[in-house]
Order: sequence, then structure tokens, then C-alpha cells
Amino acid sequence: MLYALQTLPGLGDFAWREAETHLPAGDGPGPKFVGLKAIPGRNDIVLVAYRGSPRPFLGLRTSEDAFIVAARGFRVAPDDRGPRQIYAAVRNSEDVPRAIELWRRATGGHQQGGSFRVISRIVGRQKFLRRELGRAVADAVREGWPGRWNLVEDDADLEVWATLVEDELICALRLSDARMRQGGKVRHLPASLRPALAAALVALTNPSPDDVFLDPMAGAGTILLERAAAGRFAELHGGDINGLALSAMQENLHGTGGHVYLSRWDAQRLPLDDGMVDKAVVNLPFGKQVSDETLLPALYRGVLAEVARVLRPGGRFVALTGDYRLLETARASTARALRPGPRHRVIVLGQPATIGEYTRQ
Ligand SMILES: C[S@@+](CC[C@H](N)C(=O)[O-])C[C@H]1O[C@@H](n2cnc3c(N)ncnc32)[C@H](O)[C@@H]1O
Repeated sequence: MLYALQTLPGLGDFAWREAETHLPAGDGPGPKFVGLKAIPGRNDIVLVAYRGSPRPFLGLRTSEDAFIVAARGFRVAPDDRGPRQIYAAVRNSEDVPRAIELWRRATGGHQQGGSFRVISRIVGRQKFLRRELGRAVADAVREGWPGRWNLVEDDADLEVWATLVEDELICALRLSDARMRQGGKVRHLPASLRPALAAALVALTNPSPDDVFLDPMAGAGTILLERAAAGRFAELHGGDINGLALSAMQENLHGTGGHVYLSRWDAQRLPLDDGMVDKAVVNLPFGKQVSDETLLPALYRGVLAEVARVLRPGGRFVALTGDYRLLETARASTARALRPGPRHRVIVLGQPATIGEYTRQ
């Protein structure tokens, strides 16, 4: 069966790597990469062929939603033939009965039908509107899918997501609900990261059970929560200069077992010993997240110097910033012991941002 994982722009490769390592192979051949589609500025969609149960898809942390693909269409015309081709592809797909059955088993939905709604998206220069794509799909479901399906606006039993990227249609049933996107977080702050992005940052540290892990500017603690979700650790250290952030962090980490130390601190003067940290991840403030942008260069220099001091030789550092040049300038001036590795481009709250990987020399 074909599944689709939806994540943030730039995280498609992360979502695939996590699926590849976390979906059990069982007796079958294991997950297989089929393709990556970008909805510019909105989402990456990863297509994965998999023989096992859909349930493990719901536990993936670097994806925000999981779907089972019920129909695909290729070479969809950009003119008024397009909606007719889409109708036929969705109505006649041989995968529909099996997709509905797997959706029902994964979500406890109704076998004989129920209510449904269609979420439609178009990338490309089609001469028809998104509304017409949605109508073609809704008609095909009502008139051709097994069971009785009633179209509604909201609160549907079944969500059918129809995505047309240029001339290719993916029509998929949503398996996940809002919980997958929230990643177990209870409280958010305005500058809080999306959990899927925090999970990608954590994955780049290669989590291991003996990690002493640090987030020096932890805000509501999203990165710490994702580190806890990634498996056992020796110690988690997080802090923030802002008292409100610390209380949100404490609330979010409340149920996390193990050695978790949360403090109010200035990340430029960490109360931690030299070389005691194995892995550090930070989501640096940038742009409008701070009241005075002129303070950022000094802040970046101070934080990087402290990260270089507390990391042990060979330790890993992963930083997310909206201003990579500023990060690099700060590193070159106060933290040369952090050797730069690969970089990854992502979109955060509509703005381009960069993830930098470093190793402490
Ligand atoms: C981009 S936010 C981090 C958000 C966090 N990753 C989350 O998901 O909630 C940056 C954080 O740095 C904190 N901060 C700013 N200056 C600081 C400093 N000198 N020391 C420690 N934290 C600081 C801010 O209060 C803010 O919570």
C-alpha cells in the first residue's frame, strides 16, 4: 500500500529517514521510498510504499500528518479536461476499498461510510480552480466509493486530501489527528518551534542512551520534549532567561521521567562544567522574535562561546537560525572549536531558516 507523510518544507528527507529506520520490516520487505513532492512554502510530502500496518506511521515525530493513498492520477490536463480526469481517477481507483479498510482499522472509523470532507490543494498553472478539484473528488467519493458518504464542511469522519502537483494527483485519507502535530506539547509560546522541526534537530544529534543533552535557550521546551521522545538519555538540561518561558517548559516537561534539570539562566553564562555535555541543540532567536535586533551579534557570540565550552570534544551541536551568516560570524569569532558540518534549509513561520551541524574539536 502507498502512504503519504506530510511535514514542514525542507523536512521531507528527515521524514523519510525516520520512516526508513522506525517502520518495522516484519515479514515483508520494509518501507520503500517512492517520491517527495513539495508544496512550496507549505509542506513536503513523502510517498512511502509499505506492507505493514498503518499504525506505526502515527508515531513518527518528524512528520505532522500521515495518510493512506487511495488514488493517484498522472498527466492530468491543465485545462477543463483535468477535473474529469481527476473524477475518473478517484472514482475508479482499485486501491480505494483496501485504503478505506486500513483507514477504518487505524482510526476506528465506520465501515459502511459516514461523513467526509475534501481538502484540496493545487501547485501549478492549471486553468481550473481548487474548488473544481475539490468538487471532482467529492463527486467521485459520493458516487463511486463503497459505502454511503455524506459531504460535510467540518468535523468529518473521513478527511480526503486531494493534492495536485503540476500534472500529478495524490488523493489520500488522513490517518492522523491534531495530536501528531502537537507532539505531546501542552503549552506554546509565540516563538515556539513546531515539534516536527524540533524532532529533526534532535535526530541530527544521533541520540544515544548515555547522552547529557542541553538546550541553552529552551523556551517552552519543545526540543527537550523531542529529545525525551527520541529514547533514553542520561541527563536533560534546559533553561531560558525568561521566567514565563521557564514555567511553560516546566509544565511541558512535567511528565518526563529521568534526570531533567530546568533552570532560569543566561545562556551566555551557563552554570555547567566544561566538557560535561555530549549533545546541544539550540533554536536561536532571530528577526522579530527579539525586541532589539542590534543585540543579536553579541548574544550569538556569547551563546556559541558557552556551547563550545560545555561540549566535550567530539560532542555534537545543532543550531537553527534565520541568519546563518550571523551564526557563522559568531562562531568564527568566539567558538572556532565548533567545526561546521552540513547545513539544511527549512522554512520556519514562512521565513527561510538554516539548520547548521557542528562537531566540537
Ligand atoms: C526562538 S526561542 C526558542 C523557542 C523554543 N525552541 C521553543 O520551542 O519554545 C528563543 C528563546 O531564547 C530565550 N533567550 C533570549 N536570550 C536569552 C539568554 N541570554 N539566555 C537564555 N535564553 C535566552 C528567549 O526567552 C526565547 O525563549
